[in-house]
Amino acid sequence: MTRLIAQISDLHIKRPGELAYGRVDTAAALSRCVDELNRFTPRPDLVVISGDLTDTPTKKEYNHLKHLLAPLQIPFVAIPGNHDDRTMMRAALPDQPYAQSTGALNLMMAVGELDILLLDSSVPGSSHGELEAGTLTWLDAILGASMGRSALLFLHHPPFMTGIGHMDVQNLRNANDLESIVQRHPRVRLVSAGHVHRATLAMFAGRPATICPAPNHAVALDLDGRLPPSFKIEPPGFHLHTWFSSRGHGDVVTHFVPIGDFDGPHPFFGPNGRLL
Ligand SMILES: [Fe+2]
Repeated sequence: MTRLIAQISDLHIKRPGELAYGRVDTAAALSRCVDELNRFTPRPDLVVISGDLTDTPTKKEYNHLKHLLAPLQIPFVAIPGNHDDRTMMRAALPDQPYAQSTGALNLMMAVGELDILLLDSSVPGSSHGELEAGTLTWLDAILGASMGRSALLFLHHPPFMTGIGHMDVQNLRNANDLESIVQRHPRVRLVSAGHVHRATLAMFAGRPATICPAPNHAVALDLDGRLPPSFKIEPPGFHLHTWFSSRGHGDVVTHFVPIGDFDGPHPFFGPNGRLL
């Protein structure tokens, strides 16, 4: 059995007609992303939205977000980032199955034999990430409750360095706490974050770890701190995590899916079986 989990991140939706940083039409970018998800075959089982759904945030931004997500034909689950507000997000997305009725917006969604775990790493009023004690306890208990099942873990703030200094200072502060929990549970097959708007691959707690690209702007890949904090318009995309139930807790392969209209696909071979 194969499961397809699409991940989109850092949507930064503003009020209708407003541009992010006076330059980026994040609403149009999300609409193109939704179109790409809807036309992708085979259809993903679930879309994970890993934070920064809105930008400032306001109720009007959440209303705009809901309007833009309405055409999405795939069920989605969402956690906040540092640009979200827990209370507003709860009110805007009343159908999300959050595990706790107040505070952190953590959730678990079973997709067949796969558990999708979303952790709220936001800290109200701050840009950096931190997992609350209650979130860590909940995670450890959930992971310990069904040890035979596989799990993919999502949170907004990366628990590892990227080399982009002004982003790394906002990383998950208590990554060590998360690391020791993940190390105890071999059923975690992937740890994936957002926040940096770039497709990134790393290892964390001995597991593959990724950062999901954004549908809009990317954080500039400035590895020596030459630039002030900057963004760049790079090819937009999302991640498609493919889980194969091949052996043990299964294998995960993450594909980068670019958003847009590109030439192709064209067949390699002609009707006679020869290369064209
Ligand atoms: Fe963020």
